[in-house]
Amino acid sequence: MTDELINGTLWQDTAGRPIHARGGCIIAYHHYYYWYGEDRRDNNYVSCYRSADLFNWEFRNCILTTDSPSAPIRQRTTIRLRRDDGGKVNLERPKVLYNEATGRFVLWVHYENGVNYREAACAVATCDQPDGDFVYHGHFNPYGYMSRDCTLYRDQDGSAYFISTARDNADLNVYRLQEDYLNVGQLIARLWPGEYREAPALIKKGGIYYLLSSYCTGWAPNQGKYGTAADIGGPWSRLVDFADATTYRSQPAFILDTAEYGPLYFGDRWDGEHYTHSSYVLLPIKFSGRQLSIDYYRKAVRTEASGIQFIR
Ligand code: GAL
Repeated sequence: MTDELINGTLWQDTAGRPIHARGGCIIAYHHYYYWYGEDRRDNNYVSCYRSADLFNWEFRNCILTTDSPSAPIRQRTTIRLRRDDGGKVNLERPKVLYNEATGRFVLWVHYENGVNYREAACAVATCDQPDGDFVYHGHFNPYGYMSRDCTLYRDQDGSAYFISTARDNADLNVYRLQEDYLNVGQLIARLWPGEYREAPALIKKGGIYYLLSSYCTGWAPNQGKYGTAADIGGPWSRLVDFADATTYRSQPAFILDTAEYGPLYFGDRWDGEHYTHSSYVLLPIKFSGRQLSIDYYRKAVRTEASGIQFIR
């Protein structure tokens, strides 16, 4: 049993192996949390771990690999999970939502050709199990836009949004998804044009949307900022700092809002030279009025009484 998660260390799964799930997301489904993230080892692209308590993670499956089954869908996509020379393409920041109407888990991910970042596309895959072998549906540019760092968000009414950087990362586009979550349905906002915000992560509290992001400096961390809005389509506020000048040496991966633990920030502490040494940062998010703040803690400890405790 693991009862503590130390920030900036390689957390281990229940088999004692390092967790490879970077730039990812966690969803709650049927008494479990499912954690999806980048796994760049061997022929893997996206891994899935499962936990009942957020501390003890059981490795479940590599849900997307170079050999995943594929099937085209209605929008025009290109199915390409390997390069011509047999090498891997590059899939980053996988995000998953469960679609209640179709009973499918839908994954959106940033797609690059594995050589450079010029593809700037998103890719979609689906499965009828949270941790099964996902079927890959190919990559495309939403409405022709470039699309790099991205996140997914599902609202209380079931409508879902894909948010991704466009125009060479200068803008953050917010797309409402179609009902089955398989395609974009409408571009509803272009946020902070020219501000180069990436690594988006969204949470809604007290009817207000808070969108966290980083600046665009590759693997190097920078000052986190957020904006707020009463309507996801805007108007959005100007950008306000959160955390410190390096976001505590992390970049937003996603936000998980839980009844038992409150709202939680998950970041990646990237190691650009040794990618698989990149570690995780987990911190509580505080709200007051229309302000959000994140303080630094060394570790999270699981307690019987209060669920989770953060220690400085
Ligand atoms: C970051 C981005 C990461 C990864 C990295 C590569 O800006 O957020 O997901 O793409 O650049 O340099």
